Amino acid sequence: MKKFYVTTPIYYPSSKAHLGHCYSTISADVIARYKRMRGYDVKFVTGTDEHGMKIESCAKKEGVSPIEYVDKIVSQFKDLWNVLNISYDSFIRTTDSYHVKSVQKIFKKLYEKGFIYKGKYSGWYCVPCESFFTDSQIKDKKCPDCGRDVSWIEEDAYFFKLSLFQDKILDLLKNNEEFIEPVSRRNEMIKFVESGLQDLCVSRSSFSWGIPVDFDKKHVVYVWLDALTNYINVIGYNGGDSSEEFRKFWPADVHIVGKEIVRFHAVIWPAILMSLDLPVTKKIFGHGWILFGGDKMSKSKGNVVDPFVLCERYGEDALRYFLLREIPFGSDGLFSNESFINRINSDLANDLGNLLSRSTALVNKYFNGALLDSNEELEEDETLISCSKSLSKKVENHLDKLEFSLALNEIWNVVSECNKYINICTPWDSKKYEGKKERLSTVLYNVLEALRIISIVISPFVPKSSQKIQEQIGANQEIFTWESTHTWGKLQRDVRVNRLDPIFPRLDVNKELAELDRIASEGNADNKEELISIDEFKRVKLVIAEVKECERVEKSKKLLKLTIFDGSKNRTIVSGIAEYYSPEDLVGKKITIVSNLKPSKIFGIESQGMLVAGSDGDILEVISTDKLSPGTQLS
Ligand code: ME8
Ligand code: MG
Repeated sequence: MKKFYVTTPIYYPSSKAHLGHCYSTISADVIARYKRMRGYDVKFVTGTDEHGMKIESCAKKEGVSPIEYVDKIVSQFKDLWNVLNISYDSFIRTTDSYHVKSVQKIFKKLYEKGFIYKGKYSGWYCVPCESFFTDSQIKDKKCPDCGRDVSWIEEDAYFFKLSLFQDKILDLLKNNEEFIEPVSRRNEMIKFVESGLQDLCVSRSSFSWGIPVDFDKKHVVYVWLDALTNYINVIGYNGGDSSEEFRKFWPADVHIVGKEIVRFHAVIWPAILMSLDLPVTKKIFGHGWILFGGDKMSKSKGNVVDPFVLCERYGEDALRYFLLREIPFGSDGLFSNESFINRINSDLANDLGNLLSRSTALVNKYFNGALLDSNEELEEDETLISCSKSLSKKVENHLDKLEFSLALNEIWNVVSECNKYINICTPWDSKKYEGKKERLSTVLYNVLEALRIISIVISPFVPKSSQKIQEQIGANQEIFTWESTHTWGKLQRDVRVNRLDPIFPRLDVNKELAELDRIASEGNADNKEELISIDEFKRVKLVIAEVKECERVEKSKKLLKLTIFDGSKNRTIVSGIAEYYSPEDLVGKKITIVSNLKPSKIFGIESQGMLVAGSDGDILEVISTDKLSPGTQLS
């Protein structure tokens, strides 16, 4: 039997799963289900990447141990995959002991082979992203991925000799067109490798939540060596004593990942595999980002839509369908409640749901639920029959290339063809079919048979709805194989239908949008992390102060030095607002300051407090008052 091994990234359980995670996992699930239908022995793996500084600090904030912290979130991930009908075969946690042992063995093996050595690490680090950056990647001390502050870190560390693999990796990228998709990312990676590979830090000693290096206990294995090797450990690599399952499934056929981690999968991961003398993964697919109001949907930005709510209200199939239909796989795409609800109405409720509902209703009305054993085909049936017969080949073509949205387009073309056909044949027109019951039966048969084929090719995408359609059109299960879609006429002519509730009820768009907004705002209010008590607020002393003098700080484009009167004394404040205010704009103004901030040195000047200003990108304004006098405390 042919095998197929597909994976998702293993996600950080630092906070709950969101739609971005759903997107990768659903796409991998569709491939897995499709390949199983095509007769492959499939291994589909997902999991969680549980070590690192970020998790350690999240746990500390909540006053629990790291493992307690991740246990809770991992179970939420699993619940979500359950709700979304994800058919994974294994779920790996990097805290699983078989993984821990294997990583330790791998680390030791690479150290003994000379691929890992001890050195010193320094670099820019972004805590929320768990990523290091080089000087050239950093602008204004901000993380290039999330825009937050990064900090400079220096410590003893082990390194993996990535630089040794530069030529081999270039060969791989250049001579193997299918290794990275889409092709734009392949070009990016080639450029990246050509610019020179530096050795990779693979251990850390500044935090302890990680897999200990067993021959140097001060160190824990740093995230990427721990994370990437999940793909071999979950199928039984065992640090080299590999199992039968490993020998069967490795190399993986495809790692589905988001575009921001293609670099780790297409450059670092093959180098690690090469150093272990293992074959490299056949394909890395880097899909685009789900954006929300123009921003990447991301837990560190907090702009997440709750997938549980969407599944509960509209069913998991609506979400599965929407994400893969709306966004070409590989490109970024927007999620909005409005486009989601509109697609449910137009594609699922109207085009497909209504087709099923009216055809089964007509079989009930004119034939008491069961068609005649007759076949009166006319020329007008040809288009429908030929496009239904050729549908699965087209879908195969697209799915083999992971073109989910194009596959769904083809399927919905046939759905439209069915609706057109019904409108031409008007099976509800009892006058037209007087004395022509055989023909009427054939017309309805054709629609049901097309629906049979549709129900099979949509099943990787919307498994539950596919099954509901099959139940309603009343066919026996043997003819619901992928193979059967290549042939027209598999449904028995005298089929008995089984009309049930609509598979996708039509939604009232405005009502739903209002309801989703209400739920979201309730959710935000519930989010205890965001809330502080009045006592915490009172600890911040906000005071009105008058600007007495103001000058530019020498050699700095951004800084102004202000002398202010806080109601009892003068003090100095340094503030980064020189690009927005000139000194004379400020003198005489009564502004707001944080008066109990610890002093800090900026450009050699001690700043005794901070002024309050707001910025929305292009403009910045200092918060000032006319009526209140210096020394007034704000509350
Ligand atoms: O990076 N749009 O974990 P992570 C689309 N642990 N996909 C998104 C997304 C969005 N807005 N947000 C997240 C890690 N994803 C590492 C991976 S693998 C050996 C280690 C998806 O929790 C997408 O697949 O930050 C992205 O690559 C992944 O979640 C990042 O998840
Ligand atoms: Mg990330």
